[in-house]
Amino acid sequence: MKVLLATEKPFAPAAVQGIREIIEAAGHEFLTLEKYTVREELLAAAAGADALIIRSDKIGADVFAAAPGLKIVVRAGAGFDNVDLAAATEKGVVVMNTPGQNSNAVAELAVAMMIFISRGQFTPSTGSEIAGKTLGIQAFGNVGRLVGAKAKALGMKVKAIDPFLSAEKIIEGGAEPAASLKELYSTCDFVSVHIPATPETIGSIGYELITSMPKGAVLVNTARKEVIDEAGLEKALEDRPDLKYITDVAPGNAAALSEKFGVRFFATPKKMGAQTSEANVNAGLAAARQIVDYFETGNTRFQVNK
Ligand code: 3PG
Repeated sequence: MKVLLATEKPFAPAAVQGIREIIEAAGHEFLTLEKYTVREELLAAAAGADALIIRSDKIGADVFAAAPGLKIVVRAGAGFDNVDLAAATEKGVVVMNTPGQNSNAVAELAVAMMIFISRGQFTPSTGSEIAGKTLGIQAFGNVGRLVGAKAKALGMKVKAIDPFLSAEKIIEGGAEPAASLKELYSTCDFVSVHIPATPETIGSIGYELITSMPKGAVLVNTARKEVIDEAGLEKALEDRPDLKYITDVAPGNAAALSEKFGVRFFATPKKMGAQTSEANVNAGLAAARQIVDYFETGNTRFQVNK
């Protein structure tokens, strides 16, 4: 089988080497397309592939049409909103993710972002400390739980909410359950967002929730830009000069926000939450193993389009 690693944002060399070893040891052919700049390159490279390993690369109907032999796509990472699942299912292609493999890297960035913005983006001004403050975690999955544990170790009080978890599970995970999203936002000095982008969540964090936050609060988004109502965010930052927003998934209006709000706003130039060699190795090798296992045994444990 031909396995193509197609990553517009490349993995660390150690991850690529590890993936190659797993794929080739199982008797498959390994091909790479890294740092591609035009879609045609992806379509041409995918043409003969039986399996794809991707990151945030957009995999839509055009890729499935260009790659008639494609059997499996593994998103080396957690979020799979970049893959058109309906188109995959229609073509009989299995889609998987590698949940948890890059969570620690994202969680470390979320914590770093809280400190960075609380210290005025490392400009010489009087900042504030995160110890003693309350952190609200919106979605208590792999990343959210790790953020909570790290925040507690740094002396924060941690609350969480998750539509898929009972209060007992949240307590087991080390956080105090919030009764509602409104309560989480209105009682926490920091809110860290870890929800996926779905039809239900897109645009769901807007003016009302953001302005319900206490004085001086910070909203941290290492999840997806789409979950924020950007116009609502901008108006909230205008009306509440005490609020701050820091994100790893730059909004469409990032330049305007930067200009208007200075050190109260920060967005990374390119999503970097999972961009550590450890996360690349964890997610990349997991993806390679899942493909080999799928071809050998038909294991679909991590399939997301069942
Ligand atoms: C994920 O969903 O796993 C993260 O957003 C990482 O995305 P990336 O592989 O594009 O860095």
